Amino acid sequence: MEQTLSIIKPDAVAKGVIGKILDRFESNGLKIAAMKKVQLSRQDAEAFYAVHAARPFFNDLVDFMVSGPVVITVLEGENAILKNRDLMGATNPKEAAPGTIRADFAENIDANAVHGSDSAENAAIEIAFFFSGREIS
Ligand code: CMP
Repeated sequence: MEQTLSIIKPDAVAKGVIGKILDRFESNGLKIAAMKKVQLSRQDAEAFYAVHAARPFFNDLVDFMVSGPVVITVLEGENAILKNRDLMGATNPKEAAPGTIRADFAENIDANAVHGSDSAENAAIEIAFFFSGREIS
């Protein structure tokens, strides 16, 4: 079984759609193997998104990710990484297919409701960033 990391971002938490987004995962065969609600520090956000540190949107991304609490989950299932990316839709909600999480709940490319790991290698790194082994079952 594959695992992936999902973050329900501050815009979606503030909007009160945590439950609706979790339902998309569970209704589509992704089990919630771990979950927590966290207010990220600036240091957390900068470290988590270190791969984007040189990108022009980095400061706005960090500002946004610390603007309110997030809900972080480990999702588990067959092809979980790809399945979660399909459920999320395109990074820019304007380009996201109808019925995807970002098409339904996101505002713009910064406030885009959810993050999901983009590869098996990054999923392992991102899961280990937020969860210890005993928190995942
Ligand atoms: P996420 O999947 O969390 O990974 C990095 C985030 O940077 C991305 O979602 C977007 O919310 C944000 N972002 C802002 N501008 C861009 C951009 N031009 N390209 C990619 N990501 C961007």
